[in-house]
Amino acid sequence: MGVLAIAGGRPIRTAPYPSWPMFTDEEWQALRQVVESGQWWGRTPGSRVEAFEEAFARYQQAPFCVACTNGTIGIYLALKGAGVKPGEEVIVPPYTFIATATAVLDVGAVPVFADIEESSLNLDPQDVANKITPRTTGIVAVHIGGRPADMDALKALAERHHLILIEDCAQAHGASWKNRRVGALGTAGSFSFQASKNITAGEGGAVTTADRQIYESVWSLHNCGRSLHGARYDHFRVGGNHRMTEWQAAILLVQLQRADQWHQKRQRNAAYLNSLLRELEIVEPVRDDPRITENAYHLYIFRYRQDRLPAVSRQRFLEGLRAEGIPVSPGYKPLYREPAFSKASLDDHPFARYYDYSRVVCPVTEKVCRDEAVWLTQNVLLAEPSDLEDVARAIAKIRDNYRELLN
Ligand SMILES: Cc1ncc(COP(=O)(O)O)c(C=O)c1O
Repeated sequence: MGVLAIAGGRPIRTAPYPSWPMFTDEEWQALRQVVESGQWWGRTPGSRVEAFEEAFARYQQAPFCVACTNGTIGIYLALKGAGVKPGEEVIVPPYTFIATATAVLDVGAVPVFADIEESSLNLDPQDVANKITPRTTGIVAVHIGGRPADMDALKALAERHHLILIEDCAQAHGASWKNRRVGALGTAGSFSFQASKNITAGEGGAVTTADRQIYESVWSLHNCGRSLHGARYDHFRVGGNHRMTEWQAAILLVQLQRADQWHQKRQRNAAYLNSLLRELEIVEPVRDDPRITENAYHLYIFRYRQDRLPAVSRQRFLEGLRAEGIPVSPGYKPLYREPAFSKASLDDHPFARYYDYSRVVCPVTEKVCRDEAVWLTQNVLLAEPSDLEDVARAIAKIRDNYRELLN
């Protein structure tokens, strides 16, 4: 019998980390109030949807906000509202959730993958520049795990080439770049309130922007082509029904009141975990960047240094950690390798069908996905500092007894 839990030893911990979503009686009361109010539609004056739009815009320091059904639709609305047309190319990272790229396909445009930076795991502005063609009209920058992308470099590129710049903030509630919250730093931003997100109503989304025209356009697109200035049965363009429900807004208004407290705790605990992991040779936290003034830590991603422990694959390292009671996962695969981007899958797309994703190679993404990335989800950072010490203890235990992982 070994020392490592995977070899029959005692695990470092058996207690679970905090479960998610977190709620109290306030969520119940908020839902009950909607039922009893008899006002169940969110697009009525004085609705909870309107109140949430106002409160969330304030939270993200964005002049305008349109609540919508989810973060996938949010990206779609932002792209379409900003004027992206079928057949145009939009540059996206391959290290993200699939919605970042499929929203581009949904507006009829073609997602073009640019690699990520090794240091930040966000879009590499250098590679974005390499991927710009005469057909490029936009960039979707994802703030992966809640860590803002290099908005200085991406904005400069967007301005130089007259491109729109959409922020995919699905994981970045409360994150800020040089003391300005994300969401309205570029052309528009999109947020998600899906069940795993830092505040949640199970599903939900929001588009933020500083541009009144884009705001009005997104509002119209999400509400059947109506206009903010028109009557109920005036339809000025073809839009869909992508409205948030009053139930979602009621829950989100409650969750938003707790957002700051959770946000601060995640950041404090992440800083502590960073300091612990820096002492362990076989792992490495993602590098700090002083321009990132707040990280939303939807994911705490750290790097496994397989080069320091060549005999142990990242997969085996994860299995060892999980056996010790640490809920780690490997995270994404390079998006362009998903069957969704095969010729067969894109067969009915009028433009992407001519693009051969099997030839795409983003070396940094491939290495990160294959050998390096280790994820903890945001709820782990809502535990107490002593619970986070268990993460470091488990890694040290694996480092000191790694031979037991080789069987
Ligand atoms: C980076 C990213 N983009 C987009 C989305 C899509 O959001 P939703 O699930 O609300 O459609 C998600 C999350 O699910 C995400 O993590």
